[in-house]
Amino acid sequence: MIETDGLTKRFRKGKSDVTAVSELSFAVGAGELVAFLGPNGAGKSTSLRMLTTLVRPTSGTARVAGHDILRDPAGVRSRIGSVGQLTSGSHAQRVRDELRSQGAFHGLSRRDSRRRADELIASLDLGGFADRTVQQLSGGQKRRLDVALGLVHAPGLLFLDEPSTGLDPQSRENLWQHILDVREQHGTTVFLTTHYLEEADRFAERVMVMDHGRVIADDTASHLKAKLTGDVLTLGFATPDATVRAVGVLAGLAAATPRRSDASTIELTVAGGDELLPRAVRVLGAEGIEVVRATCVPPTLDGVFLALTGRSLRDGPAAASEGPDTHGAPDVHEAPDADAAPDAHAAPRSASVAGDEPGAAPTGTTGLPATDRATTRAAEAAQQTGAKR
Ligand SMILES: Nc1ncnc2c1ncn2[C@@H]1O[C@H](COP(=O)(O)OP(=O)(O)O)[C@@H](O)[C@H]1O
Ligand SMILES: [Mg+2]
Repeated sequence: MIETDGLTKRFRKGKSDVTAVSELSFAVGAGELVAFLGPNGAGKSTSLRMLTTLVRPTSGTARVAGHDILRDPAGVRSRIGSVGQLTSGSHAQRVRDELRSQGAFHGLSRRDSRRRADELIASLDLGGFADRTVQQLSGGQKRRLDVALGLVHAPGLLFLDEPSTGLDPQSRENLWQHILDVREQHGTTVFLTTHYLEEADRFAERVMVMDHGRVIADDTASHLKAKLTGDVLTLGFATPDATVRAVGVLAGLAAATPRRSDASTIELTVAGGDELLPRAVRVLGAEGIEVVRATCVPPTLDGVFLALTGRSLRDGPAAASEGPDTHGAPDVHEAPDADAAPDAHAAPRSASVAGDEPGAAPTGTTGLPATDRATTRAAEAAQQTGAKR
């Protein structure tokens, strides 16, 4: 479905060049659900914008849904759906009309546009407010409409740029269920970006970790976690003496080195900790050493990012390559790209590309406070986890 070859994008910033995306080479097969995960400024949107023909690469190319992004951008656009980082839709239009016009835009007959709008209203659960105007919708409802708009022409490949950013947890969950449903019903290939670790972990089958314009890991979340981190086992003992003896026993049992975190506690980072734990309790028991406390904390994708970069993805914008100005304010890059070549790429956006409407800029910033809150909560959670270790 997607095959990229050395895809690179440099932007001029003042007198210097910023390499937003560097030498991206990967393939995505039909039906895959892939998440691009990385901090703000990592190059996720720029990658998507090249793949959806909104930005022309500085070098390299890609085949998307059977068409070359440089030689046949129109072909690419006709075969893909794309939902940008900003919410779209004309604000004064009603939801149902918005979907119908999008259908007409794609060349569907009046009858087919109506039928398709009804289908999408049902499948994305927009029925309760199909006669409201776009501006009356909540953030979550708008995002579901965005996804519906991206699906009007039944594309086999759907790109979603931060579909759930700024939504409350319940709306995020709900949006995800709809994305998964669409995919299951139509076998749609889904390529999305997110900076929510939990989302990538739970829903994506394949996670590409992006940092400073490069893909630094590409695998299933469980493989990444198993390869780069492990379960943290913590075992507590009644006496320091028992603890010392337990270190010896555990050293023979696990591939990892047991560490004493205090006089009566041992920690171990291992793969398959959930299986090792009962075995360790049994073996220690047979040696007359009683385990009085035990926990097994599974690895997280944040641990993976930390292992790869030495930074925590949860640290938020400060840890990212960009300052706070890019955080939650994606609209600065969503304006038509001055850098884009004056050829097909700079042409008015095709109907197949929902979202990213130049006029829609202010709506993108409405997610800012929620995003900030989420980041703060995530940072707090990370701190707590860190404190336990
Ligand atoms: N149109 C643009 N002009 C100049 N710099 C840009 C433009 N778009 C993106 N960048 C820069 O490219 C880098 C990657 O940005 P982006 O792809 O938006 O990252 P992400 O989506 O991962 O947050 C950042 O340093 C950003 O400032
Ligand atoms: Mg982005």
